[in-house]
Amino acid sequence: MYAVTLDDPSDLAEWRAKARALLMADVDPAQVTWQAGAAGGLFGSDEGLPAPVRTGMPAVPRAFLGLADTVLAHTDPRRHATLYRMLWRLAHGEKALLRIATDDDVAWAHGCIKQVNRDMHKMKAFVRFREVRLDDDTVYVAWFEPEHDIVPRVAPFFVRRFTGMRWSLLTPSRTAHWDGDTLSFGPGAHRADAPSGDALEDMWRTYYASIFNPARLKVDAMRREMPVKYWKNLPEARLIPELVRDALPRMQAMVLNQPTIPNRKIAAPQKAAVAVPEGSIAALRAQARDCRACDLWKPATQTVFGEGRTDARIVVIGEQPGDQEDLAGKPFVGPAGKLFDRALGDAGVDRDALYVTNTVKHFKFEPRGKVRLHKRANAQEQAACRPWLVAELDRVRPDAIVCLGAMAAQAVFGTSFRLMAQRGEWIDLPDGRRAMATVHPSYLLRLPDADAREAGYADFVRDLSLMRELLV
Ligand code: URA
Repeated sequence: MYAVTLDDPSDLAEWRAKARALLMADVDPAQVTWQAGAAGGLFGSDEGLPAPVRTGMPAVPRAFLGLADTVLAHTDPRRHATLYRMLWRLAHGEKALLRIATDDDVAWAHGCIKQVNRDMHKMKAFVRFREVRLDDDTVYVAWFEPEHDIVPRVAPFFVRRFTGMRWSLLTPSRTAHWDGDTLSFGPGAHRADAPSGDALEDMWRTYYASIFNPARLKVDAMRREMPVKYWKNLPEARLIPELVRDALPRMQAMVLNQPTIPNRKIAAPQKAAVAVPEGSIAALRAQARDCRACDLWKPATQTVFGEGRTDARIVVIGEQPGDQEDLAGKPFVGPAGKLFDRALGDAGVDRDALYVTNTVKHFKFEPRGKVRLHKRANAQEQAACRPWLVAELDRVRPDAIVCLGAMAAQAVFGTSFRLMAQRGEWIDLPDGRRAMATVHPSYLLRLPDADAREAGYADFVRDLSLMRELLV
């Protein structure tokens, strides 16, 4: 038997290095026990590495790494052994293992992923920072008790959301700290380390009471989405019984009141004027070949319609086809498409499970010598193409939409949407679907320096991995 010790039981790089060494030495999974943190054991102090018997590492699908990364964040103590068994099986001829949803190991891993993603969703929704004065400085501190080891995965979301604040996020297993410049992690903390109340709470309660919409009150859904165990850390929780009690009379008053004109700046995108074309996706594609709703068809080679699963749970929307898409007649096959494919692989998402399309279906360009320089479609061209997008969403009927880039995000959320401030989180749409926006892969290709590209890519993969919870 080999006893493997992991300093950080949730760290992919450490588990991966040790699992690879075991695999190279052909150590059967039944011969390995995995333990966290304790001294001694294989690669700890005493037993040493079994000698490699293989000359090269067997090829393993990239999606496995994405899966392992999330499963390691789960607290189930069987995770290291199960992942090693899966790795072993993949390396011993079961190349299609990840596609066998009924396999015990695969089903178990997908269950873990679902729970980790749900825990991350809860953490994003229910963390509340409280103001702490330190000498002349203000820092914000939050206490949260996640079920899984998710702090490193969720912290970048808070960096994006609260970039301008100095904050610490405390949990029993880890802490994260943002000083306005650098994100760092530390060991777990105690509840008593976090402040329990401050002036911010009053502000937050006032805000919450003002946005609370009694007509949308669903007490069961609220309990499910905001389980009682989180209430103790939520300043607004003590308002809930009162708001629930008052909901019915407030809703009746709303019904009796005159409608108000929505603020144009935040109004949802106009959908009413769009005549949605008829027919299946194949029929739409055929009709779109002859679309003349704007002039982009004239210089373009062909219409680039969406493609993928016509019953997909997720539709991904890009901006507009590029040079290579125009020639191939398929979305996301050029350099941005290749980066998108790589990121999907790293995020553990199978492109074949998706329907992928664009906001605008023709390549727009300016000829420069032998090259065709990409030009952004303008608002009229985007509007002219909108019926096709609406029809695709209508036929595919996805549960969720993922927007790549600002053009797609604004087509879905409206023009007041700010990509960099609101990316990477599911947002409920009025029709009951949810949608998320992230950067466009071309944006990553244009970043000037390697560090920025690497960090941007990691965030992109993290955003895309949010899709996994819907695909298991
Ligand atoms: N960029 C997009 O937005 N869509 C494509 O299909 C290719 C590049």
